[in-house]
Order: sequence, then C-alpha cells, then structure tokens
Amino acid sequence: MTVLAFASDHAGRGLRLSLIGTACSAGWSVVDLGTGGTESVDYPRFGFALAETLAAGDAQFGVAVCGTGIGISIACNRHPLVRAALCHDVTTARLARAHNDANVLALGARIVGSEVAQEALRAFVATPFEGGRHTRRVAMLGTAAAAPG
Ligand code: RB5
Repeated sequence: MTVLAFASDHAGRGLRLSLIGTACSAGWSVVDLGTGGTESVDYPRFGFALAETLAAGDAQFGVAVCGTGIGISIACNRHPLVRAALCHDVTTARLARAHNDANVLALGARIVGSEVAQEALRAFVATPFEGGRHTRRVAMLGTAAAAPG
C-alpha cells in the first residue's frame, strides 16, 4: 500500500489539493497535513510536520508544496531522515528517486503547472532507487564525515 503525506503553505494549497486528487485516483492512501485554509501561514511548520510524519513511519513518501518549493524543501531537509528534492518536471522527479533516494517531492506551485506536477508525482512514486554507486553517496548525506579535507 502506497501512503503519501501532503503538506503545503497557503501558496501551495491549490496544487496540493490537486495532487491529492491525483493520488486518490491512483489508489494511494493520503495523509493530508494542511494547510486547511487560504490565510497566510508559515511554510516551516508544514515542512517540519511532514518530516515528522515520515520519520514516524506514517507515510512512505511526502509531497511538499509552497510558492517556489524552496522554503518548504529547506524546512523538510532540516530533518536528518528526510531527503527532499525540489523538482520541476518528470525528469528531476524520476532522478530524485533513482539517484538520491528522495523521500519528499517538493514542488513550487508558482513555478510548475498542475499537469507537469501530476506527471512528476506519478514518476516519483513509480521510480525505484537504483542503488549501486548511489548507495554510498546517499549514506554520506546522513553523516558529518562527508566534507573533503
Ligand atoms: C509565500 O508567499 C512564499 O514565500 C512561500 O510559499 C515560498 O515560496 C517560500 O519559499
């Protein structure tokens, strides 16, 4: 069973709701973390909540949306177990899974159109991590020993 958690600020709300529809149509389970309303809210709160949901094992993947996707992806990536990838199309979404084993798809609602975002989500969920040479690099992301010198 594929379970996706969704979080956005006010700027990402419309795209988040549209992508929840895509997920439901695909038969995936959805955990919706808001925001519920249209008033201005702070994206870090929603990024942190999404990260906690993934860390708790309550969802397999997260979808994070704000105006640009930048702020909420930074917020998600503050959590050591999260690899949030800011993606712009099917190719970046696919490679975020294949090479980076990303567990959060971050999107900018003011940057990416709804159709492209839907295709990106489907590609993200469908693409397995390639492993191989990428395994070592992804593991290094969780360490402080990765810096050269
Ligand atoms: C909100 O206006 C906007 O700043 C936010 O959605 C996001 O783009 C920040 O990175």
